[in-house]
Amino acid sequence: MRIDIITVLPEMLEGFINTSILGRAQRKGLVEIHVHNLRDYTTDKHRRVDDYPFGGFAGMVMQCQPIDACISALKAEREYDEVIFTTPDGERFSQPMANELSLKENLILLCGHYKGIDFRIREHLITKEVSIGDYVLTGGEIAAAAMADAIVRLVPGVLSDEQSALSDSFQDNLLAAPVYTRPADYKGWRVPDVLLSGHEARIKEWELQQSMERTRRLRPDLLQQG
Ligand code: ADE
Repeated sequence: MRIDIITVLPEMLEGFINTSILGRAQRKGLVEIHVHNLRDYTTDKHRRVDDYPFGGFAGMVMQCQPIDACISALKAEREYDEVIFTTPDGERFSQPMANELSLKENLILLCGHYKGIDFRIREHLITKEVSIGDYVLTGGEIAAAAMADAIVRLVPGVLSDEQSALSDSFQDNLLAAPVYTRPADYKGWRVPDVLLSGHEARIKEWELQQSMERTRRLRPDLLQQG
């Protein structure tokens, strides 16, 4: 899988994508993540990528030309399954969407900034608009980083068996059960006895019951879905 991220702040993403599991996934050749500086594609001699909005509204708007040039250059090299724009008014990102996107071959993530991007880009070049939650970030970089992380960890081979994504919260609309490690008794705070019993069936039953109880208490809305 390949992910191309278009941004005006490449330095914000470089460290993130080359660290930890995302970095290792790339070194193992399982995914490629490329960050493109939008300013490299502008024809403006001052490297500006934004301008004032028509209509006299407040704020700046990202212009069509550099975005079109960058997306066109990428599309000339390969076909993309989705050209995604990160924006607070997009469809809400979720585990099912991450699952779906992890099966794709090539994705573009365009990070918004300022008051947004010229709407014609959204009409003509963007195939999917995604929000990571009902709050407004200063730019789409954190949203793109969150999406890349959630997607890449689902690519086969990225996580080891022990880290398996199958037991994640949300994967079956249930929150994950609590986990513990040694020591079994820390300052009198004890690990539940059942986990020390070695009784596999009872442990599985405890895990499911904990998942159900936590979901009912913390995220009852998940039990209403599908
Ligand atoms: N850009 C600014 N806020 C955002 C959000 N909540 N989701 C995605 N992109 C954004």
